[in-house]
Amino acid sequence: MTQDEMKAAAALEALRFVDGGLIGVGTGSTVNHFIDGLDTIRQRFDGAVSSSEASSERLRALGIEVVDLNEAGELALYVDGADEADPRLNLIKGGGGALTREKIVAAASRTFVCIADHSKLVDVLGGFPLPVEVIPMARAYVAGRLGALGGKPVLREGFVTDNGNQILDVHGLRISDPVALEGEINQITGVVTNGIFALRPADVLLLGTENGVETIGD
Ligand code: 5RP
Repeated sequence: MTQDEMKAAAALEALRFVDGGLIGVGTGSTVNHFIDGLDTIRQRFDGAVSSSEASSERLRALGIEVVDLNEAGELALYVDGADEADPRLNLIKGGGGALTREKIVAAASRTFVCIADHSKLVDVLGGFPLPVEVIPMARAYVAGRLGALGGKPVLREGFVTDNGNQILDVHGLRISDPVALEGEINQITGVVTNGIFALRPADVLLLGTENGVETIGD
């Protein structure tokens, strides 16, 4: 089975959580399979709140209504991928650069179902460079502070977020206390947010494996 087939299996498994109302939809190749799956269960939900322009475009192309979060209120369900997940369902996200809107939609949702292939499960977060969205004028200042925390920040060249900001990918962090580090990095002036999802982790992790989809936390 290819990695993409395992992503697709996890994504389609998440359809069983769809139970009416508006669905929070994340970003990335795994979520793209979920969006395609939503097209097959149109009668079971009303529309979507999206975490990126890319996902909004894909949803609209299928004729699925995209609703502004400000008009939606609390969402019952948010489905999104991850770059890394630990066994406590803390995540690193933002490989696609959509971390800030993803974190907002996750915060506004009662249940966060994370979908991924099994290669994303790790014991300790940090092997994947941690994305940090920064206000452009603060880039060098924030990079210095991240360096003082022990990381090696690298600017994601030629990339601008949907919010008009830049991304520093921080290499070399071993994140033994994700809750503390998420808070600490978010306190640096000029940081919009960072890609640790530990203050609001996933509730359920669906992992595509060679032997089917493994569920953690349901
Ligand atoms: C985007 C993300 C994605 O969820 C993450 O990068 C995983 O992507 P993929 O499903 O393509 O492996 O956080 O900002």
